[in-house]
Amino acid sequence: MVFEMKHITKTYDSVVANDDVSLHLNRGEILSIVGENGAGKSTIMKILYGLEKPDSGEIVVGGRTQRFNNPSDAMAVGIGMVQQHFMLFEQMTVAENIVFKNELKNGPFMDMNKTAETVRQISERYELKIDPLARIADCPVGLRQRVEILKILYQNAEIIIFDEPSAVLTPLEVEALLETIRGLARAGKSIVLITHKLQEVMAVSDRVYVMRQGRVVAERMAADTDISELAMLMVGHPLASYEIDPPKPGETLLETRGLRLMENGREVLKDISLHVNAGEIVGIAGVSGNGQSALIRCITGLEKSTGGQVLVGGVDVTNRSVREIRDAGLAHISEDRYVWGSAPEGTLEENALMARQDDKPFSSRGIIRPRAIRDFAVRLIRDFNVKASSPTQKMRELSGGNAQKLIVAREMSLDTPVLICCEPTRGIDIGAMEAIHNRMLRRREDGAAILLVSSELTEIMSLSDRIYVIFEGRIVGEFERGSMDDRHLGLLMVGGSIGHEQ
Ligand SMILES: Nc1ncnc2c1ncn2[C@@H]1O[C@H](COP(=O)(O)OP(=O)(O)OP(=O)(O)O)[C@@H](O)[C@H]1O
Ligand SMILES: [Mg+2]
Repeated sequence: MVFEMKHITKTYDSVVANDDVSLHLNRGEILSIVGENGAGKSTIMKILYGLEKPDSGEIVVGGRTQRFNNPSDAMAVGIGMVQQHFMLFEQMTVAENIVFKNELKNGPFMDMNKTAETVRQISERYELKIDPLARIADCPVGLRQRVEILKILYQNAEIIIFDEPSAVLTPLEVEALLETIRGLARAGKSIVLITHKLQEVMAVSDRVYVMRQGRVVAERMAADTDISELAMLMVGHPLASYEIDPPKPGETLLETRGLRLMENGREVLKDISLHVNAGEIVGIAGVSGNGQSALIRCITGLEKSTGGQVLVGGVDVTNRSVREIRDAGLAHISEDRYVWGSAPEGTLEENALMARQDDKPFSSRGIIRPRAIRDFAVRLIRDFNVKASSPTQKMRELSGGNAQKLIVAREMSLDTPVLICCEPTRGIDIGAMEAIHNRMLRRREDGAAILLVSSELTEIMSLSDRIYVIFEGRIVGEFERGSMDDRHLGLLMVGGSIGHEQ
């Protein structure tokens, strides 16, 4: 056994985040922890990594009872955690980032050749391919994550904790990550993986714990269980499935005409023309980095396009402000909830309201109406099943998935004619995912035009009435529901063309 946590309890005011949790990890094992949003998964691993202190309970590592005051204490006994928000220096190289904290104590001068060589050695030993001299700023997300893993290995971690590592990755990067995790276990490292993706759990783990409401409610060997049993154990009841009626598309509510964007001398959007009609969900399928975020930024006013037009409800809103575009009837669940979506230090009420404090019914003749704001926040929290203790709680105190739910709730509650959903279910548990999908379908029934961007191909395929495929800033295909299988779609997404495959 490489670690054992015994009877851990952790409360935040009235919330019991961990309630008498006991778990352990064996050497070379891959252990998954699954459970609904707010079940206490991140909390228990933050405690193991020294980021949070338990109220009671015991942590045993290497046969000794430990008391961690901070992550350095945990690191000292070989525990490392790959954080969701990478802490890398953009302007430094891969190698510099990996050795940075450790070498600094030897003075500010690093021998770059030696450093690069050391990093090359670790990366070869664990089969984590990377160019030590590449600049972080030029690395895609999958590689940045690899740098985080190497940083931990460089510090001799024996136990590596991953908290939803695949949430930010493309499908190809996920495959590589799972392979990395297997490789680490083969090399004798012991792994904890928190994830909402049950296919990943089944693909890599040896053993699984299921958490619900702060407690461990089940433990299974992966070989003795399956996705439907795990889903059932997580949510406590079977998942409801949904039927999708054929679309009844109405007038065009969102349209781009020949949209272009030049960024740093590079054309990232090339002549994008698309439309979304009332009563339709339209998906954008593409490998991330092929222009989908630029497209959404240009549509929503976060960035000025360099050519073409954007129309919302038939009105030309090209390069208007975010506010003006919103007022024209567009809501936006943004891709990165921490940058655009929310204010972590703000209360749930403030986040629920976000930039609408001057609207009716929240203010009348310039006077804010706190009661109306409170009622609104409470309604969002209830309707979207956000696990929170009070509407005046701070946003950053919510679990990842519950913060996402509040943003989805806010944007959907606007009842705008046009709704843009970027990664709407990122970090969301399978039960809540069904609920959000059902709401999207209901908005579609009510005549909203919904544009969906998601790195989950299954999400795109199951919800979209039509799909545009984007590759290198260009639309390379358009399909109706059911006229395309995922293999062909995957091929188009990487620039292949149908008919030319072997
Ligand atoms: N700093 C904090 N202050 C107050 N409450 C907190 C804090 N951190 C966590 N909580 C609460 O503890 C509970 C468990 O949160 P945790 O982040 O462990 O959930 P999780 O299982 O990781 O969920 P998710 O799948 O959404 O990431 C939640 O109800 C959360 O609101
Ligand atoms: Mg979490």
